[in-house]
Amino acid sequence: MVKAVVLGAAGGIGQPLALLLKANPLVTELGLFDIVNTPGVAADLAHISTPAKVEGYLPADDGLKKALAGADIVVIPAGVPRKPGMTRDDLFKINAGIVKDLATGIATTAPKAFVLVISNPVNSTVPIVAEVFKKHGVYDPKRLFGVTTLDVVRASTFVAEILGNLSLSKDIIVPVVGGHSGVTIVPLLSKSTHPLPASLSTTDYEALIKRIQFGGDEVVAAKNGAGSATLSMAYAGAEFASKVIRAVNGEKGISAPSFVPLAADPAGGAVLTEELGQELEFFSSTVELGAEGVVKINPLGSLTDAEKALVKAAIPELATNIQKGSNYVIDIY
Ligand code: NAI
Repeated sequence: MVKAVVLGAAGGIGQPLALLLKANPLVTELGLFDIVNTPGVAADLAHISTPAKVEGYLPADDGLKKALAGADIVVIPAGVPRKPGMTRDDLFKINAGIVKDLATGIATTAPKAFVLVISNPVNSTVPIVAEVFKKHGVYDPKRLFGVTTLDVVRASTFVAEILGNLSLSKDIIVPVVGGHSGVTIVPLLSKSTHPLPASLSTTDYEALIKRIQFGGDEVVAAKNGAGSATLSMAYAGAEFASKVIRAVNGEKGISAPSFVPLAADPAGGAVLTEELGQELEFFSSTVELGAEGVVKINPLGSLTDAEKALVKAAIPELATNIQKGSNYVIDIY
């Protein structure tokens, strides 16, 4: 029995994500919350012949509390998306407040739920959720995840394109570490399950790195003011949620990259800190999942010189983003 809740469920990501969660046979209850349109989305999804019982809530009459009651897993795609020319950090002003309020709802209503944050800037919104949970005395770092799966999905797809075989993309695993914005997105192509052609030039390698780091901009530009990635993000979010749900249900050997608190695995976190040469409270690395959330944070391991340079370049921006999120909550309380 798994209750999944989507906060921001009527949005561009929220609707297809809710559809994919409704299609997941492991989900038995689906709570949908948004400031608009959730009754309609819920009524529509409720007609699909899969197990999940669907309910939609608006803010009136304690809707957030009702949606979150008994939640096992909460996915948050609430907030504004980018328009052309915007960075993810430009969204902070609006989305920080939205995420803080939703995190407060989770901390008071479903403090044991696994929280999967999609709302950007992920590098800052995850620290916001952590600080809110700390303030409420319910912080469990093993249960908090920033969803970076879209970077992993894009890396798999783009590598498959270079290999000239898109049908491979489902099997290609490229660890993408660091964070979720521009240069903080660090694809470790040397660790891809499917090596790049030895003939790939340095220029083409660098173009591939850039494409993975800034793939979101391709979608923002193509949508021309109508938002950012929604369908690919819903796919990626549902994939990651499904992994968490399977691990909670007792399945072993499940792992995925995610932006997590290093405190989720103090031993693994210490190794990673040593590798980075700097303390960061959060970092995206491949994590092993279990019934209680993060079991192990994997180290980066041996990297090429080019990858070491990418990690080094990611750290300052990551540190700034994390601090910005934490301070936002610390300054309020
Ligand atoms: P959207 O504007 O289509 O949908 C956002 C939804 O959030 C709307 O339905 C809105 O009513 C709702 N919302 C606003 N305030 C709310 C509140 N206080 N409580 C509940 N719901 C609220 O935006 P879209 O395209 O779905 O993107 C959502 C977020 O996901 C953005 O911040 C975007 O940057 C981020 N994103 C993250 C990605 C990632 O890889 N982690 C990839 C793509 C987008």
